[in-house]
Amino acid sequence: MVFLNGKFMPIEEARIPVLDRGFIFGDGVYELVPVYSRVPFRMDEHLARLERSLAAVRMRNPYSRAEWRDIILQLVDKQSFEDQGVYFQVTRGVAKRDHSFPKDAAPTVFLMSNPLVNPPKELVERGAAAVTAADERWLHCDIKSISLVGNCLLRQLSAEVGAAETILFRDGKLTEASASNVFVVRRGVILSPPKSKLILPGITYDVVVELAQGAGLPLEFRDIARDEVVSADEIWVTSSSKEVLAITTLDGKTVGNGKPGPVFHAMYRLYQEFKQKVMRAGKERQAA
Ligand SMILES: Cc1ncc(COP(=O)(O)O)c(C=O)c1O
Repeated sequence: MVFLNGKFMPIEEARIPVLDRGFIFGDGVYELVPVYSRVPFRMDEHLARLERSLAAVRMRNPYSRAEWRDIILQLVDKQSFEDQGVYFQVTRGVAKRDHSFPKDAAPTVFLMSNPLVNPPKELVERGAAAVTAADERWLHCDIKSISLVGNCLLRQLSAEVGAAETILFRDGKLTEASASNVFVVRRGVILSPPKSKLILPGITYDVVVELAQGAGLPLEFRDIARDEVVSADEIWVTSSSKEVLAITTLDGKTVGNGKPGPVFHAMYRLYQEFKQKVMRAGKERQAA
Protein backbone atom coordinates (compact mmCIF):
# COMPACT_ATOMS: atom_id res chain seq x y z
CA MET A 1 0.00 0.00 0.00
CA VAL A 2 1.03 3.58 -0.69
CA PHE A 3 -0.41 6.92 0.44
CA LEU A 4 -1.51 9.59 -2.05
CA ASN A 5 -3.27 12.82 -1.11
CA GLY A 6 -5.03 11.55 1.99
CA LYS A 7 -5.75 7.96 0.96
CA PHE A 8 -4.04 4.59 1.26
CA MET A 9 -4.21 2.49 -1.93
CA PRO A 10 -2.32 -0.21 -3.85
CA ILE A 11 0.57 1.34 -5.83
CA GLU A 12 -1.07 0.24 -9.12
CA GLU A 13 -3.99 2.54 -8.34
CA ALA A 14 -1.90 5.60 -7.43
CA ARG A 15 -2.13 8.17 -10.23
CA ILE A 16 -1.10 11.81 -10.54
CA PRO A 17 -1.98 14.22 -13.34
CA VAL A 18 0.79 14.90 -15.88
CA LEU A 19 0.67 18.62 -15.01
CA ASP A 20 1.90 17.92 -11.48
CA ARG A 21 4.77 20.36 -10.90
CA GLY A 22 6.83 17.48 -9.55
CA PHE A 23 6.64 15.86 -12.99
CA ILE A 24 6.96 19.09 -15.01
CA PHE A 25 9.57 21.00 -12.97
CA GLY A 26 10.92 18.64 -10.30
CA ASP A 27 9.27 21.19 -8.00
CA GLY A 28 9.14 19.27 -4.76
CA VAL A 29 11.04 17.94 -1.76
CA TYR A 30 11.36 14.49 -0.23
CA GLU A 31 12.61 12.35 2.65
CA LEU A 32 13.53 8.75 3.29
CA VAL A 33 13.20 7.34 6.79
CA PRO A 34 14.71 3.95 7.59
CA VAL A 35 12.51 1.65 9.67
CA TYR A 36 13.97 -1.28 11.62
CA SER A 37 11.58 -4.00 12.86
CA ARG A 38 8.73 -1.53 12.22
CA VAL A 39 10.35 1.16 14.39
CA PRO A 40 11.18 4.35 12.44
CA PHE A 41 14.74 5.54 13.07
CA ARG A 42 15.09 9.28 13.84
CA MET A 43 11.65 10.06 12.40
CA ASP A 44 11.42 13.47 14.09
CA GLU A 45 14.79 14.51 12.68
CA HIS A 46 13.64 13.51 9.19
CA LEU A 47 10.39 15.43 9.68
CA ALA A 48 12.31 18.47 10.92
CA ARG A 49 14.47 18.35 7.77
CA LEU A 50 11.33 18.04 5.63
CA GLU A 51 9.95 21.17 7.34
CA ARG A 52 13.21 23.01 6.55
CA SER A 53 13.19 21.83 2.91
CA LEU A 54 9.56 22.91 2.47
CA ALA A 55 10.25 26.32 3.99
CA ALA A 56 13.36 26.74 1.81
CA VAL A 57 11.35 26.16 -1.39
CA ARG A 58 8.45 28.27 -0.06
CA MET A 59 5.99 25.39 -0.05
CA ARG A 60 3.16 25.01 2.43
CA ASN A 61 3.49 22.03 4.76
CA PRO A 62 0.25 20.12 4.27
CA TYR A 63 0.47 18.31 7.62
CA SER A 64 1.46 18.92 11.22
CA ARG A 65 4.35 16.96 12.69
CA ALA A 66 1.83 14.72 14.51
CA GLU A 67 -0.13 14.08 11.30
CA TRP A 68 3.06 13.13 9.42
CA ARG A 69 4.04 10.75 12.22
CA ASP A 70 0.62 9.14 12.15
CA ILE A 71 0.62 8.65 8.34
CA ILE A 72 4.14 7.14 8.43
CA LEU A 73 3.22 4.73 11.24
CA GLN A 74 0.03 3.67 9.46
CA LEU A 75 1.96 3.08 6.24
CA VAL A 76 4.59 1.01 8.08
CA ASP A 77 1.81 -1.07 9.63
CA LYS A 78 0.31 -1.85 6.23
CA GLN A 79 3.46 -3.50 4.85
CA SER A 80 4.23 -7.21 5.14
CA PHE A 81 7.99 -6.70 5.77
CA GLU A 82 9.72 -5.56 8.95
CA ASP A 83 12.66 -3.40 7.79
CA GLN A 84 11.46 -0.60 5.56
CA GLY A 85 12.53 2.55 3.79
CA VAL A 86 9.65 5.01 3.95
CA TYR A 87 9.93 7.47 1.06
CA PHE A 88 7.76 10.59 1.07
CA GLN A 89 7.56 13.61 -1.16
CA VAL A 90 5.56 16.79 -1.44
CA THR A 91 5.24 18.69 -4.72
CA ARG A 92 3.76 22.11 -5.42
CA GLY A 93 0.72 20.43 -6.94
CA VAL A 94 -1.08 20.41 -10.28
CA ALA A 95 -1.32 23.61 -12.33
CA LYS A 96 -1.04 24.94 -15.87
CA ARG A 97 2.64 24.97 -16.80
CA ASP A 98 4.13 28.27 -15.64
CA HIS A 99 7.37 28.65 -13.69
CA SER A 100 5.94 31.07 -11.13
CA PHE A 101 3.99 29.52 -8.27
CA PRO A 102 0.32 28.68 -8.82
CA LYS A 103 -2.06 30.64 -6.57
CA ASP A 104 -4.38 27.86 -5.49
CA ALA A 105 -2.80 24.45 -6.19
CA ALA A 106 -2.95 21.94 -3.35
CA PRO A 107 0.37 20.18 -2.68
CA THR A 108 0.64 16.59 -3.89
CA VAL A 109 1.66 14.25 -1.06
CA PHE A 110 2.94 10.77 -1.84
CA LEU A 111 4.40 8.14 0.50
CA MET A 112 5.56 4.61 -0.23
CA SER A 113 7.46 2.05 1.79
CA ASN A 114 9.89 -0.46 0.32
CA PRO A 115 11.98 -3.17 1.91
CA LEU A 116 15.06 -1.49 3.41
CA VAL A 117 18.17 -2.59 1.57
CA ASN A 118 21.28 -2.13 3.72
CA PRO A 119 24.70 -3.09 2.31
CA PRO A 120 25.21 -6.86 2.46
CA LYS A 121 27.51 -8.15 5.24
CA GLU A 122 30.15 -9.11 2.71
CA LEU A 123 30.36 -5.51 1.38
CA VAL A 124 30.53 -4.11 4.92
CA GLU A 125 33.44 -6.44 5.67
CA ARG A 126 35.30 -5.94 2.40
CA GLY A 127 34.49 -2.26 1.85
CA ALA A 128 33.15 -0.67 -1.33
CA ALA A 129 34.60 1.06 -4.37
CA ALA A 130 34.00 4.73 -5.17
CA VAL A 131 35.05 7.15 -7.89
CA THR A 132 35.56 10.91 -7.71
CA ALA A 133 33.99 13.69 -9.76
CA ALA A 134 33.56 17.45 -9.80
CA ASP A 135 30.48 18.55 -7.87
CA GLU A 136 28.52 20.38 -10.54
CA ARG A 137 25.19 20.55 -8.74
CA TRP A 138 23.35 23.73 -7.78
CA LEU A 139 24.21 25.81 -4.71
CA HIS A 140 21.34 24.64 -2.45
CA CYS A 141 22.38 21.05 -1.81
CA ASP A 142 21.11 21.46 1.77
CA ILE A 143 17.54 21.28 0.40
CA LYS A 144 16.34 17.71 -0.12
CA SER A 145 14.89 18.52 -3.52
CA ILE A 146 13.36 15.93 -5.85
CA SER A 147 15.25 17.66 -8.73
CA LEU A 148 18.00 15.06 -8.66
CA VAL A 149 19.25 15.03 -12.25
CA GLY A 150 22.67 16.32 -11.10
CA ASN A 151 22.93 13.58 -8.48
CA CYS A 152 21.72 10.95 -10.97
CA LEU A 153 24.36 11.95 -13.55
CA LEU A 154 27.07 11.76 -10.88
CA ARG A 155 25.87 8.46 -9.42
CA GLN A 156 25.82 6.96 -12.92
CA LEU A 157 29.60 7.57 -13.21
CA SER A 158 30.21 5.12 -10.36
CA ALA A 159 27.45 2.72 -11.44
CA GLU A 160 29.09 2.36 -14.86
CA VAL A 161 32.30 1.04 -13.31
CA GLY A 162 30.51 -1.13 -10.74
CA ALA A 163 31.35 1.23 -7.84
CA ALA A 164 29.03 2.10 -4.95
CA GLU A 165 29.38 5.88 -4.87
CA THR A 166 30.73 9.01 -6.53
CA ILE A 167 32.62 11.27 -4.11
CA LEU A 168 32.37 14.93 -5.00
CA PHE A 169 34.74 17.92 -4.90
CA ARG A 170 33.85 21.55 -5.41
CA ASP A 171 36.78 23.95 -5.92
CA GLY A 172 39.11 21.16 -4.85
CA LYS A 173 37.32 20.57 -1.55
CA LEU A 174 35.29 17.54 -0.47
CA THR A 175 31.53 18.14 -0.34
CA GLU A 176 29.65 14.83 -0.13
CA ALA A 177 28.79 11.89 -2.41
CA SER A 178 25.95 11.55 -4.94
CA ALA A 179 23.57 10.10 -2.32
CA SER A 180 25.53 10.08 0.95
CA ASN A 181 27.77 12.12 3.22
CA VAL A 182 31.50 11.44 3.47
CA PHE A 183 33.89 11.11 6.42
CA VAL A 184 37.63 10.50 6.20
CA VAL A 185 40.07 9.35 8.87
CA ARG A 186 43.63 10.67 8.96
CA ARG A 187 46.04 9.69 11.75
CA GLY A 188 43.16 8.56 13.94
CA VAL A 189 41.15 11.78 13.54
CA ILE A 190 37.70 11.62 11.93
CA LEU A 191 37.22 14.54 9.53
CA SER A 192 34.11 15.75 7.75
CA PRO A 193 33.13 18.93 5.91
CA PRO A 194 31.08 21.29 8.11
CA LYS A 195 27.40 21.65 7.28
CA SER A 196 26.79 24.29 4.63
CA LYS A 197 24.54 24.94 1.64
CA LEU A 198 26.86 22.68 -0.37
CA ILE A 199 25.93 19.43 1.39
CA LEU A 200 22.78 17.72 2.58
CA PRO A 201 22.69 17.74 6.39
CA GLY A 202 22.47 13.95 6.71
CA ILE A 203 20.55 12.41 9.56
CA THR A 204 23.07 9.54 9.55
CA TYR A 205 25.91 12.12 9.56
CA ASP A 206 24.43 13.52 12.79
CA VAL A 207 24.17 10.06 14.33
CA VAL A 208 27.79 9.28 13.43
CA VAL A 209 28.92 12.61 14.91
CA GLU A 210 26.97 12.01 18.14
CA LEU A 211 28.35 8.48 18.47
CA ALA A 212 31.93 9.64 17.82
CA GLN A 213 31.60 12.43 20.37
CA GLY A 214 29.96 10.08 22.89
CA ALA A 215 32.80 7.58 22.53
CA GLY A 216 35.49 10.27 22.73
CA LEU A 217 36.77 9.61 19.21
CA PRO A 218 38.68 12.64 17.85
CA LEU A 219 36.51 14.49 15.33
CA GLU A 220 37.02 17.68 13.35
CA PHE A 221 34.79 19.61 10.97
CA ARG A 222 36.80 21.46 8.39
CA ASP A 223 37.45 21.90 4.69
CA ILE A 224 39.12 18.77 3.34
CA ALA A 225 41.33 19.06 0.26
CA ARG A 226 41.17 16.44 -2.45
CA ASP A 227 44.74 15.28 -1.64
CA GLU A 228 43.71 14.62 1.95
CA VAL A 229 40.87 12.39 0.78
CA VAL A 230 42.98 10.51 -1.74
CA SER A 231 45.70 9.86 0.86
CA ALA A 232 43.31 9.23 3.81
CA ASP A 233 43.72 6.16 6.01
CA GLU A 234 39.98 5.54 5.84
CA ILE A 235 37.01 6.87 3.87
CA TRP A 236 33.38 6.24 4.87
CA VAL A 237 30.09 7.12 3.26
CA THR A 238 26.95 7.47 5.38
CA SER A 239 23.25 7.50 4.55
CA SER A 240 19.96 6.15 5.84
CA SER A 241 20.23 3.09 3.63
CA LYS A 242 24.02 2.62 3.50
CA GLU A 243 24.36 3.35 7.25
CA VAL A 244 28.18 3.56 7.59
CA LEU A 245 30.08 1.95 4.74
CA ALA A 246 33.86 1.89 4.26
CA ILE A 247 35.28 2.88 0.87
CA THR A 248 38.36 0.79 0.22
CA THR A 249 39.15 1.73 -3.36
CA LEU A 250 38.90 5.21 -4.84
CA ASP A 251 39.26 5.67 -8.61
CA GLY A 252 40.70 2.15 -8.69
CA LYS A 253 43.43 2.91 -6.10
CA THR A 254 43.62 1.37 -2.66
CA VAL A 255 42.46 3.46 0.31
CA GLY A 256 44.70 2.95 3.39
CA ASN A 257 45.62 -0.71 3.52
CA GLY A 258 42.70 -1.69 1.30
CA LYS A 259 40.51 -2.95 4.16
CA PRO A 260 37.93 -1.19 6.33
CA GLY A 261 40.04 0.44 9.05
CA PRO A 262 39.98 0.30 12.86
CA VAL A 263 38.04 3.55 13.30
CA PHE A 264 35.41 2.30 10.83
CA HIS A 265 35.07 -0.93 12.82
CA ALA A 266 34.58 1.04 16.04
CA MET A 267 31.98 3.31 14.40
CA TYR A 268 30.18 0.44 12.70
CA ARG A 269 29.82 -1.34 16.04
CA LEU A 270 28.61 1.83 17.79
CA TYR A 271 26.08 2.42 15.01
CA GLN A 272 24.68 -1.14 15.16
CA GLU A 273 24.47 -1.01 18.97
CA PHE A 274 22.69 2.33 18.81
CA LYS A 275 20.21 1.00 16.25
CA GLN A 276 19.45 -2.00 18.46
CA LYS A 277 18.89 0.30 21.43
CA VAL A 278 16.51 2.53 19.46
CA MET A 279 14.66 -0.54 18.17
CA ARG A 280 14.25 -2.05 21.63
CA ALA A 281 12.99 1.24 23.06
CA GLY A 282 10.56 1.59 20.12
CA LYS A 283 9.24 -1.94 20.61
CA GLU A 284 8.68 -1.28 24.33
CA ARG A 285 6.80 1.93 23.50
CA GLN A 286 4.65 0.11 20.95
CA ALA A 287 3.87 -2.67 23.46
CA ALA A 288 2.96 -0.20 26.25
C1 LIG B 1 23.10 13.99 -1.58
C2 LIG B 1 22.90 13.26 -0.29
N1 LIG B 1 23.74 13.50 0.73
C3 LIG B 1 23.62 12.86 1.90
C4 LIG B 1 22.61 11.90 2.13
C5 LIG B 1 22.52 11.20 3.45
O1 LIG B 1 21.41 11.65 4.20
P1 LIG B 1 20.73 10.75 5.30
O2 LIG B 1 21.81 10.31 6.23
O3 LIG B 1 19.76 11.66 5.97
O4 LIG B 1 20.08 9.60 4.61
C6 LIG B 1 21.71 11.64 1.10
C7 LIG B 1 20.63 10.67 1.31
O5 LIG B 1 19.81 10.40 0.49
C8 LIG B 1 21.84 12.34 -0.14
O6 LIG B 1 20.99 12.11 -1.16
